[in-house]
Amino acid sequence: MTQPVDPNYLPADNRYESMPYIRSGRSGLKLPAISLGLWHNFGGIDPLENGRAMLHRAFDLGITHFDLANNYGPPPGSAEETFGAILRKDFAAHRHELVISTKAGYWMWNGPYGEWGSRKYLISSLDQSLRRMGLDYVDIFYHHRPDPETPLEETMGALDHVVRQGKALYAGISNYDAEQTREAVRILNDLGTPCLINQVKYSMFVRWPEEALLDTAQELGIGLIFFSPLAQGLLTDRYLDGIPEGSRASKPSGFLKKDQVTEENVNKARRLNDIARERGQSLAQMALAWVLRHPASTSALIGTSSVQQVEENAAAVEKLDFSADELQAIEDILAE
Ligand SMILES: NC(=O)c1ccc[n+]([C@@H]2O[C@H](COP(=O)([O-])OP(=O)(O)OC[C@H]3O[C@@H](n4cnc5c(N)ncnc54)[C@H](OP(=O)(O)O)[C@@H]3O)[C@@H](O)[C@H]2O)c1
Repeated sequence: MTQPVDPNYLPADNRYESMPYIRSGRSGLKLPAISLGLWHNFGGIDPLENGRAMLHRAFDLGITHFDLANNYGPPPGSAEETFGAILRKDFAAHRHELVISTKAGYWMWNGPYGEWGSRKYLISSLDQSLRRMGLDYVDIFYHHRPDPETPLEETMGALDHVVRQGKALYAGISNYDAEQTREAVRILNDLGTPCLINQVKYSMFVRWPEEALLDTAQELGIGLIFFSPLAQGLLTDRYLDGIPEGSRASKPSGFLKKDQVTEENVNKARRLNDIARERGQSLAQMALAWVLRHPASTSALIGTSSVQQVEENAAAVEKLDFSADELQAIEDILAE
């Protein structure tokens, strides 16, 4: 559904009053507890005015961090174009208040230089991203996924290079496990461009970072930003009564497939929803608070398809703490 958009948008004066800002590791940069990603719903196939309305509301609620990647769309690149167009129209006077990130690592163009982790690919891709968004620099440039073939020194060297060029303010990694993170951090430290943050998938349904990464990140002094904290909508009330029209699982372009909306997942979500209600929250809000409970957490990186979802999710910060009994009740449901 397209949302009404204010063509003469001016950010709310009280935009910094409710959102907590959390330091990314031992860096100087703080990120909002809730950040907004443009993976879905900002592509060339999506209504631009809906994306525009969501960005307005997000910024009004203190969400200063917007996360992109070269390949977000569809088609690939179109989310950066949409974001650039909205940025020029509505946020031109506020660039210094925004943390904008992009990434390279997944397939972006044909041939040997269009994916993975070579210096050739990363630097070409960032130049393209800057052009699509109409920016001189991004705040964070990420290597999007580990490359088993390229020496890590080359990939990290490319991140160091773009930071020194001023095309990115900080270097980040994404989808790196604990050992890969340790190695990347060591190389970047040696180069003099510390690693700001690792962006990984984490939610009540996807818990691999608990094995070692949460503690490793804290030890190394880097931040962690968690993507798909709502398991693409499974950890909300979206699928409690079937797969609604217009939902991510209903769309051919969505990365959530119908067969991931299993009876088991939905049953767990129903029972988690009961705990959330007892806490006076929605399930989405509890799922966001849950990923933020670890001291290594910097931000929960959400996606949204409506202004209402932006508002509901930003309000998660009103109750972030859990009692030991609540945490145990959640564990019991997840363990079944
Ligand atoms: N680094 C990486 O490899 C990587 C990979 C994936 C994502 N990311 C980043 O992480 C961001 C978030 O990922 P994600 O979109 O999968 O996150 P998510 O927050 O787990 O899922 C977002 C989806 O959940 C539904 N939703 C959100 N709030 C809701 C609410 N209050 N009530 C009901 N449904 C709600 C919406 O689906 P409907 O469309 O059905 O409304 C929304 O599109 C991406 O945009 C991207 O920036 C990074």
